[in-house]
Amino acid sequence: MNTLHNVLVTGGAGYVGSVLVPKLLAAGHKVTVLDWFLFVPVVFEEFSQNSNLVLIKGDIRDEDTIKQALAGQDAVIHLACISNDPSFEMDPELGKSINYDASLQLFRLAKEMGVRRFIYASSSSVYGVKDEDKVTEDLSLEPLTDYSKFKAMCEPELLAMASETFVPLVLRPATVCGYSPRLRLDLTVNILTCHAIEKKIITVFGGDQTRPNIHIDDMTDLYVKTLEYSDEQIAGKIYNAGYDNFTVYEIAKMVQEVVGEDVEIIRQDSDDKRSYRVDSSKIKRELGFETKKTVRDAIADIADAFRAGKVPNALTDPQYYNIKMMQQEKQPA
Ligand SMILES: NC(=O)c1ccc[n+]([C@@H]2O[C@H](COP(=O)([O-])OP(=O)(O)OC[C@H]3O[C@@H](n4cnc5c(N)ncnc54)[C@H](O)[C@@H]3O)[C@@H](O)[C@H]2O)c1
Repeated sequence: MNTLHNVLVTGGAGYVGSVLVPKLLAAGHKVTVLDWFLFVPVVFEEFSQNSNLVLIKGDIRDEDTIKQALAGQDAVIHLACISNDPSFEMDPELGKSINYDASLQLFRLAKEMGVRRFIYASSSSVYGVKDEDKVTEDLSLEPLTDYSKFKAMCEPELLAMASETFVPLVLRPATVCGYSPRLRLDLTVNILTCHAIEKKIITVFGGDQTRPNIHIDDMTDLYVKTLEYSDEQIAGKIYNAGYDNFTVYEIAKMVQEVVGEDVEIIRQDSDDKRSYRVDSSKIKRELGFETKKTVRDAIADIADAFRAGKVPNALTDPQYYNIKMMQQEKQPA
């Protein structure tokens, strides 16, 4: 495969996409973003004169829109979805229509229209809660929520389409953390950092639950690399993508250390004992992918962004919280 590509990024205006798209452009790719653009439509303003970036405001459920977006593409990085449990549960039918039905249609049309490579953003939450210390890719999937269930159901559908000319890859990212111009403050590390800065108090419910994490820079570097690996390296593969597993209390302690010792941590009892950890040694072993950044880096990056005034009204502006945006925009354009 050549190193330069026409790449479609669905959901490219989201938290991960907003960091990924500039990296793809910097790597010399021609990028098309298909997104609802519900969140911060100005996110790519600085690239408005860049002829290598095409923005399509549309819905991945719409077949004509998909065909327009897929025309001439070499690769698809499929990020668009209702991307957390509360947003999904707010409207399960909408969630299924996007995360499952539209994804299957996208897989099929991509293959039919000659797209060579398809990267699917699944999630490490597909495993559910496991007793095993090392949650590796070969373990059974026991998703606990519909969001995770439909992620899990998409994976085999995509991989079954693999052929000489269609190279699918499934990534199961850990929870992403760190600053993005389309910041999400509904993710563990990000929300704890926000509360430490804005309220000087972090409330930890339980705290012994383990969470896998990956810095947004590492996650987006990996997506860029997925366009560089050979077909043989990635065809039909599934990889966990995580940096490290920490308990929520350990994350809170790191936040306190980075943001300031005046931050108070309050622990409260919780019935939510869901604890999961993923093992990401396979991607290191087979693709040589290693993370470079830490959770501590992510906390420091977010703290810097707050200090620079890049996160105004962090506790109240719905743009930082997918569920609040969904409530506001129940009927997207
Ligand atoms: N952020 C994480 O911690 C994490 C962890 C594991 C997996 N993932 C997966 O990675 C992907 C990106 O995550 P994110 O955090 O950037 O999510 P996000 O919610 O910030 O971005 C998703 C984007 O998809 C768009 N979108 C949703 N439905 C659409 C539709 N019908 N048509 C067009 N656009 C639509 C939204 O407008 C949004 O910009 C998602 O698939 C998510 O499930 C994320």
